[in-house]
Amino acid sequence: MSKPSVYVARRIPDQGLELIRDVCDVTVWQEELPPPREELLRQARDCDGLVSLLTDTIDGDLLDACPRLRVVSNMAVGYDNIDVAAATARGVLVGNTPGVLTETTADFAFALLMAAARRVVEGVDYVRAGQWRTWGPLLLLGVDVHHATLGLIGLGRIGQEMARRARGFDMRVLYCAPHRQEEVERELGVTYAPLDDLLAQTDFVSIHTPLTPETRHLMNRARFALMKPSAALINTARGPVVETEALVEALRSGQIAYAALDVTDPEPLPADHPLVSLPNCIVTPHIASASRATRGKMAEIAARNLIAGLNGEPLPAGLNNEALGAGRNALPRAW
Ligand code: DGY
Repeated sequence: MSKPSVYVARRIPDQGLELIRDVCDVTVWQEELPPPREELLRQARDCDGLVSLLTDTIDGDLLDACPRLRVVSNMAVGYDNIDVAAATARGVLVGNTPGVLTETTADFAFALLMAAARRVVEGVDYVRAGQWRTWGPLLLLGVDVHHATLGLIGLGRIGQEMARRARGFDMRVLYCAPHRQEEVERELGVTYAPLDDLLAQTDFVSIHTPLTPETRHLMNRARFALMKPSAALINTARGPVVETEALVEALRSGQIAYAALDVTDPEPLPADHPLVSLPNCIVTPHIASASRATRGKMAEIAARNLIAGLNGEPLPAGLNNEALGAGRNALPRAW
């Protein structure tokens, strides 16, 4: 019996890949960099399923160029790389990997917050540069995390986990979100504040919102102007939520004190970009979910979404299960 053809756009943990190999004919892109667009189109053209990464743009043009595709399984919780409406219109199922990376990502966001507050990276650089000659009463003074105010932009799964971590440090936590979440406010002891008020009151602003047309450049010049000059910005969500030029200006002028970024715009950030060399900015390469265990679970969910879609079943973590039985999903299967 023939098997469905699947293209996996990067090497992923075996936990997911083995599940796919058991039931599909699989081609895996082996390079470190993502497949160039032409290559992705060429490889996915005759495939029934595609495992994509956040570095692959999945739009109407790609879906039209790959008429057999029934399911696109994104190995990420964020899916701003996928035009879900275009997929739904063609009867292509789309899945993501929510839940399993929540705590791991919050751990890392908190690590960045701590690193920014206590100048951890500067301290490491100082020692590595051979500059450590004595204990200094004024050496690399930072700010306290305990009892400081944290402002969360977004109170979804990851934002809530960030609030839990902040509680352990006796922080006051404010949040803004499209809707008030009164039950969560009670459970976690967080307080709602409109974005502009939150920015004016907080010592650490941490972004936990998806990238949508509404959140693109949410942090812009006007918003940086509202922040305290002693405040730090943490971003583990998506780079374009922050207007890069405005951030560079805010850091250079002292409008804000620090930024700690796991996501940037553009991504990757060129090594000669000002954000890389500014002393009051630390940048990591989009690794907030990168624990071995979590990446394994993400790969497994991506595999389960893919296989369910190929079987004509609802995806366990589906973004448009209403596309089941519609468009090309209604056609008889070729295998
Ligand atoms: C996601 O899943 O969206 C993260 O950015 C990568 O894990």
